[in-house]
Amino acid sequence: MNGVIMFSLPLRDDARLRPLEIWHAEEFAAHMDRAREHIRPWVGPAFVTDDLDGARGTLRRYAERQAADGARLYGIWLDGMLVGGVMFVNFDAAFGSCEIGCWLEPAAEGRGLITQASRTLLDWAFTDRGLHRAEWHCRADNERSSAVAERLGMTLEGVRRESWPYGGTRHDKQIWAILASEWRAHRP
Ligand SMILES: CC(C)(COP(=O)(O)OP(=O)(O)OC[C@H]1O[C@@H](n2cnc3c(N)ncnc32)[C@H](O)[C@@H]1OP(=O)(O)O)[C@@H](O)C(=O)NCCC(=O)NCCS
Repeated sequence: MNGVIMFSLPLRDDARLRPLEIWHAEEFAAHMDRAREHIRPWVGPAFVTDDLDGARGTLRRYAERQAADGARLYGIWLDGMLVGGVMFVNFDAAFGSCEIGCWLEPAAEGRGLITQASRTLLDWAFTDRGLHRAEWHCRADNERSSAVAERLGMTLEGVRRESWPYGGTRHDKQIWAILASEWRAHRP
């Protein structure tokens, strides 16, 4: 239990956000068993792994990129169970720009966990790191995801047409973004 309390931020009474690291591989693989088919249509294919080695590979990839001040991965624990998370899919301090992504297993949807966790990442990117812009990319028909971007105060900047191949179809991809000045004005 101490491990859950340390190095984590409360999202609500029953939920916490903390770095998702290689030592969580077994927990992450078990979570992926609950999340896999739910997230598969909506996230990058490399994130949808089938076994412990695959889960460990995702965590290692993020750890290596974090070591270079790039991508970062954070898990959300609800009642002590890993149920999803948020990440910097890209993080480029020199360019002043990042992209945030997210996922949940079905039982954790509808509680505001992703909106709140994403706000923590935006605050860190804009306030602590001085970034200028944060993006959010989603399939144009991913209504739950675009609803999060909207709740965060992001603007839909455009659509990359037929840029997301899945299941034999090429789907449109929305690009949402928020600027640091807009975040400061919008921040709850
Ligand atoms: C996208 C995804 C993470 C969104 O999850 P979500 O639970 O809808 O998002 P949030 O955690 O922000 O919760 C918002 C919901 O909680 C409700 N809610 C409850 N308390 C809330 C609070 N304090 N703040 C905000 N929302 C709250 C909202 O009303 C909303 O519910 P509704 O959609 O029924 O109106 C989830 O649907 C998912 O994992 N989908 C598959 C993978 C995926 O698409 N990933 C993103 C790829 S771009």
